[in-house]
Amino acid sequence: MIEKIAQIKEEIEKRTISDEDELEAFRLEFLSRNGKVQKMFGEMGSVPPKERATVGKAMNEVKQLAAKRFEEEKKKLESSTTREFGALDDITLPVEPTYTGSFHPLTQALDEIKQIFLRLGFNVADGPELEDDFHNFTALNFPPDHPARDMQDTFFVRKSDKKDEEDLVLRTHTSPVQIRLMKDQDPPLRSIMPGRVYRNEAVTAKSYFQFNQVEGLYLDEGVTMGELIETLVMFARLMYGADVKYRVRPSYFPFTEPSLEMDVWWESEKGGQWLEILGAGMVDPNVLTAAGVDPEKYTGFAFGMGVDRIAMLKYGIDDIRLLYENDLRFLNQFSS
Ligand code: PHE
Repeated sequence: MIEKIAQIKEEIEKRTISDEDELEAFRLEFLSRNGKVQKMFGEMGSVPPKERATVGKAMNEVKQLAAKRFEEEKKKLESSTTREFGALDDITLPVEPTYTGSFHPLTQALDEIKQIFLRLGFNVADGPELEDDFHNFTALNFPPDHPARDMQDTFFVRKSDKKDEEDLVLRTHTSPVQIRLMKDQDPPLRSIMPGRVYRNEAVTAKSYFQFNQVEGLYLDEGVTMGELIETLVMFARLMYGADVKYRVRPSYFPFTEPSLEMDVWWESEKGGQWLEILGAGMVDPNVLTAAGVDPEKYTGFAFGMGVDRIAMLKYGIDDIRLLYENDLRFLNQFSS
């Protein structure tokens, strides 16, 4: 019997345990109810009474040994699965890069535009993308059936013949939000109004059927054209750096008088060119009247800038379609 005990002891000591399965096999073989240790105790009856004390002691030692080994191996396996550093780890190795996502370049450009205008004392407002004819055109001094409405190829959602029912359009610009703002709040007003706009245009590298604008409106007593230009130049410098090359030229919009456009110089491999980034002007008195503001008392300036254009210039993107295709090879270039 003593020999048998010694043999079990040796087996317990020599068994290799390197994973969970082997640990479980060890437990079944030695420590379970039908295991070798329990069986060994069962054979006590055949041991002559005077040897029982010695044999019993040896058996208990083996039983303890098995339990101890089991606990030790279990601990080792547990710590090897949760451990962070070990002797073989080189903590200077670079970690596996994880993909965390990033803000879309349009969102990044819009954030910068907002930051700039917040610094200049503007707040942020918004309005609906589905507009009625009154806000998108009429209140903005587009005469009925006047070709000026063709300036902006419109997606009509509802064309109505009824007198008291407005046509519904996908807004062709963010200028209708000016009207909503003036109707809702009393001057002074100093707000920017970012949003998506839609035009029924052929898709090319330069134009898309949807894009983003930031409208601006500053309305108070005695607002001047000088302040408008100063604000726009300040914007261009903060957006593109103090050495930005820009120009301001006269233009026409039904809702501003006088009107202007601002261009920024774009330098690329194919050579340089002027790119228009915004339209602006002094709010036309007719617009103030339509929105319930007294044009004798208040003057204001308004501008509408193309966020897509501004982002393309800022990041050197030469095709607007890239901004809407959500190709990860493109988007990943904008993670910070
Ligand atoms: N709404 C004009 C456009 O979309 C831009 C503009 C806004 C011009 C405000 C003047 C004043 O082209």
